[in-house]
Amino acid sequence: MTSQIIGEGHVKWQSPSNIALVKYWGKFGRQYPRNPSISFTLSAANTETECIYKYHEDAMEAPIIRFLFEGKPNIKFEDKIKKFLGSVTDIFPFLLHLELDIHSVNSFPHSSGIASSASAMSALALCLLSIEAEVNGNQKLDYQKASVLSRLGSGSASRSVFGPLAVWGESSGVEGSSNDFAIPYGDDFDPIFHTFHDDILIISAEEKAVSSRAGHALMEDNPYAGPRFEQADKHLLEIIESMRQGDMERFGQIVEKEALTLHALMMASDPPYILMQPNTIDVINRIQAFRRESHLPVYFTLDAGPNIHLLYPTNCTLAVERLKAELQPFCENELIIKDKVGSGPRRLI
Ligand code: PMV
Repeated sequence: MTSQIIGEGHVKWQSPSNIALVKYWGKFGRQYPRNPSISFTLSAANTETECIYKYHEDAMEAPIIRFLFEGKPNIKFEDKIKKFLGSVTDIFPFLLHLELDIHSVNSFPHSSGIASSASAMSALALCLLSIEAEVNGNQKLDYQKASVLSRLGSGSASRSVFGPLAVWGESSGVEGSSNDFAIPYGDDFDPIFHTFHDDILIISAEEKAVSSRAGHALMEDNPYAGPRFEQADKHLLEIIESMRQGDMERFGQIVEKEALTLHALMMASDPPYILMQPNTIDVINRIQAFRRESHLPVYFTLDAGPNIHLLYPTNCTLAVERLKAELQPFCENELIIKDKVGSGPRRLI
């Protein structure tokens, strides 16, 4: 006998990617971070996810899921979502009542080398928590719970639920911080940091040789893991202080140290690996030379890949055009994706 459907509807969210300034690298237990992190929430690079749902009266063995990516069935992503949602029904039992038609679209080109897990997982989590609220007759969405569900899908996704900055992971210096969820942060930061651009220089769009999942796992036996986690705790407090004081030089020093430390940790893993490419190093050198000559606050950061995030406040946009023209030939297909600090996800339906 099929169970009765006691609710149905339609929700849609747009959720952005984010770029970590102090990085999360190394985890334990159920996707808990070994150290706290802070990120800029972006705006242009985002995922739109639409869920048409039926809510069954009786719990099923697993949620029923049909998934379309950019208009087409995508079995790889569908299986990933099924596995993920199936693994969190102990924490989110309402999922066992759901029959879902999910359709996701990314704003950035597929295979552009931009990781979509943060925007995709947060958009999905926001849809699911909105469905739960709707079914329970609640007006208000529980963003904290959405951040928990996002985190379980992809650690860094926990931060995409909030903008313009978010902190995830327990820190003695950040009231309300938690390993379970991210929190919005930075109301008292110098407003210049809300104007930051993040232009993403696509050095290579190829899939990474070592996934983030494998990279986190390799931190377990990394001989520098202990000092790294202590350094990240300290960097978080220092970067917060620099952003409160509007000290862009100190901010930039920490951001670049974080990026290079992340990649140094990869090179010190067992087995060691390198995700930067020759053009990554060339571009970094050129950014630093431009800064020395221009005295402008233009900095880089890196994710777990070869692509460069160029960070600068909006009042430097014109001068940075010159730098970007110099760097464009180092990018695959000359691709630079322009992004900015954003205010967080938006419900569309
Ligand atoms: O969320 P994950 O498991 O893809 O890990 C992300 C790790 C970094 O992007 C390298 C750093 C971060 O804090 O986002």
